[in-house]
Amino acid sequence: MGDTTMTAFQVAGDRWLDLTDPDVHTAGVPHATFQRLRDEDPIAWCEERDGSGFWSVTRYRDIVDLNRDFKTFTSERGIRLEEMDEEETAARRTLMEMDPPEHTRLRRLVQGGFTRRMVRSYESAIQELAGEVLDEALPKGSFDFVTDVARQLPMRMLGRLLGAPEEDYDRLVGLGDSMIGNTDPEFTEHVVDRDDTAEFRLLPFRSPAGIELFEYAQRLADDRRTNPTNDVVSKMLAPTMDGEPLTDLEFKNFFTLMVAAGNDTTRYTLAGGLLALLDHPDQLAMLRDRPELLPTAVEEILRWTSVTMHFRRTATRDVEVHGTTIREGDKVVLWWISGDYDERQFEDPFRFDITRDPNEHLAFGRGGPHRCIGEWLARVEIEVTLRELLPRVADLRVDGPIRRLRSNFISGIKHLPVRATLA
Ligand code: HEM
Repeated sequence: MGDTTMTAFQVAGDRWLDLTDPDVHTAGVPHATFQRLRDEDPIAWCEERDGSGFWSVTRYRDIVDLNRDFKTFTSERGIRLEEMDEEETAARRTLMEMDPPEHTRLRRLVQGGFTRRMVRSYESAIQELAGEVLDEALPKGSFDFVTDVARQLPMRMLGRLLGAPEEDYDRLVGLGDSMIGNTDPEFTEHVVDRDDTAEFRLLPFRSPAGIELFEYAQRLADDRRTNPTNDVVSKMLAPTMDGEPLTDLEFKNFFTLMVAAGNDTTRYTLAGGLLALLDHPDQLAMLRDRPELLPTAVEEILRWTSVTMHFRRTATRDVEVHGTTIREGDKVVLWWISGDYDERQFEDPFRFDITRDPNEHLAFGRGGPHRCIGEWLARVEIEVTLRELLPRVADLRVDGPIRRLRSNFISGIKHLPVRATLA
């Protein structure tokens, strides 16, 4: 490793951490443990305190290959570690928990609003929103970059896209947080690995926030069916030439998925990206001098932060990988974040290099049918925020303790106090 490595991202040398323990991740990404697994046990059996255990896949190539083989490694039995019975699986099913061909049909119905070309057409709206958010936060001097900036933008943009009224955005962000942050007491009153959450077992993320989001989505759908507009929601609900429109349940599940998937992932990438730049002043200076490097800088930020740490699959048959037999029904966890630091794929992966190219990271998945729908939206939001931020500040520095999300699923900096001197 080079000497300008990570501060908040590194756990000092512990090679044997329990990857399932949410507390482990509050100290930083357990890179030493991932590195040991990549080198010594790339298909490793990991025990779980409350579950049956799972296979950890930690090398880049294996992750992509297994992800591609959706027939052997299905998403239908859940994509997070949590084990669900049939009733829970059916009630909480979204696009993410489907395999082709069912997945293909639904994905086709929803992806149109998020293509690269569509997102570029929202770029000026994103720029305007980023400018507003920054102009509110920066004059404070000292502020929390996550709550005041990074948390604000993605939901405002998604809210506009989905045609939700502006006064609802804060509420939607809060609901999204309590789902994704379902193991962090700052974000939920029902911490799933500590409290009894059986009564919420049929709701997304086993969280009561799901009820409110379902009701919200139903109202939105009813409104758009009676008063269709030109927005993404109306398009999703309109009958298509070659297929059925979304049913109400499909729409509610998709809406909830968007609020969960499209909101805090971009937020935490922005926060982790800013911290990486502040930790590497040479890279920050280079980006200031050469803003044309923003696109490769964004890719490096995505690789470096790799916010969605894993997705899980379940084996549909006995299969051998590197001499290890994975049995039908076994859980298999693809650790995107480990693949993103795999020395076999990335030269000097612990070097943060905004010029890295090619940079085929796994932050949005790779190889399989579920590749992130929001990838272009996320990219443009990150790029535009940095483009708007850097010229506005003469100096920016960390100004207090950094706090990380308590989660084994999302790697996130939830508080990043900074001090800004305006340009
Ligand atoms: C930096 C921000 C983001 C990261 C790191 C991220 C990460 C991911 C990952 C790893 C997957 C699964 C890929 C796979 O299984 O192969 C995924 C899927 C998905 N993401 Fe994102 N995402 C981000 C932003 C967004 C945004 C802004 C949206 C909403 C517009 C979104 C919506 C989705 C959806 C709907 C899926 C499921 C796609 C499917 O199952 O076919 N994501 N994302």
